[in-house]
Amino acid sequence: MQSYIQSAEEILKKNDLGSYTVPTHGLYPFQWNWDSCLTALGQFHFNEARAWREIETLMAHQWDDGMVPHIIFHKEDDGYFPGPDVWATGRQVPTSGITQPAVAGFAVNRLYERAKDKALAGEMARALLPKIHKWHQWFFRCRDPQGTGLVAIIHPWESGRDNSVDWDVPFSRVPTDGVLPFQRRDTQHANPEHRPTQAQYERYIWLVQLFRSLKWDNMALHDNSPFRIVDPGFNAILLRSCSDVAKLAAEVGLEAIAAESRSFAQKGTSAMEALWDDDFGQYICFDRAANELIKSPSISGILAAFADIPTNRSQALAERVLQLSSRCTYAVASHDPAAAGFDASRYWRGPVWLIVNYMIADGLRRAGQTDVAEKIKQDSLELIEKGGFAEYYNPLTGAACGGLEFTWTAAMVIEFVSQSEIA
Ligand code: GLC
Repeated sequence: MQSYIQSAEEILKKNDLGSYTVPTHGLYPFQWNWDSCLTALGQFHFNEARAWREIETLMAHQWDDGMVPHIIFHKEDDGYFPGPDVWATGRQVPTSGITQPAVAGFAVNRLYERAKDKALAGEMARALLPKIHKWHQWFFRCRDPQGTGLVAIIHPWESGRDNSVDWDVPFSRVPTDGVLPFQRRDTQHANPEHRPTQAQYERYIWLVQLFRSLKWDNMALHDNSPFRIVDPGFNAILLRSCSDVAKLAAEVGLEAIAAESRSFAQKGTSAMEALWDDDFGQYICFDRAANELIKSPSISGILAAFADIPTNRSQALAERVLQLSSRCTYAVASHDPAAAGFDASRYWRGPVWLIVNYMIADGLRRAGQTDVAEKIKQDSLELIEKGGFAEYYNPLTGAACGGLEFTWTAAMVIEFVSQSEIA
């Protein structure tokens, strides 16, 4: 076990550029939003101050309207597409113009709870919570204009599950005409068979061009995007962060933030029920632009276990994890192996991702589903044993896929291995 921690620590240090950490050199040479927050959890085990810094750096690039971008382009690197010139967001330090799962509130609360340096933790919580809360307010204002309690993503990259099967039908409404010619870089760093297809990439870029033409005005983007999806996993992360922010804000005396966060969490958690699907025994996405549920059994609906969902739902999700496990070797496949569209090695269409495993296991453990949480942890560690610290893994064979020496995978390993000490 100790050697896992040492190897993981080495990867985190190798990918550390001082005030932020790249997901892996080459394929992802900048700072990514949810990567950084989850990375901080791993860094915290050997350097508390450095972990806080990771999140501080991210939040320093928050937009005036509250949005926290999915990529911060701290320095130039032409090995990645789409770079700052394509996004054209006009920021002094360039950033992308879309966001990513809001896991910062959860991460900050977890760091605070574990901190040995309580003075630093208190100072950081008081500095970061108002910013994180502003981001949450932005979500409910700009991505839930009708006040349903749940927010929509307007680009697949926002979900963090770039090429999920969930997007296949809604993506058919996104055109490709007028997409300027471009050259992908990802397929030069990783096996093209593991990456999204060219047709998907053209639609990703079409959406970026649309948002750019709307001048990145977040009061206009949601309603104008042909792609508006209420993703249960994405919302669960946001709602869990809201409830963690509520708890921590109350502890450090930020009462107004605590009260509003509590109400975001309560309203959203009740609204999640509309995404439950009895056929699959899990939550599914809702296509807000088409006004219909998307009958696609992806990991997103299981990741919902991360929020404070009702006990009967957590129990059903634990059963669902076991059912999916019986269809492959390693939990938890990012798409049901029995469903159409499953692809064992292509990015988010089947492979196992350790960060998702970590969040599902955390939610299930909180809900008392400890056996299944433990199984997810064991499978995750076996994948490391078999494939090293990869970006993601084939759930049937355990083969490493995508980038290697991956930061957040390393961070999650430290978390998994240390769990018994912390619990
Ligand atoms: C890919 C993943 C996304 C992640 C990024 C950096 O785009 O789909 O979730 O944040 O890589 O690791």
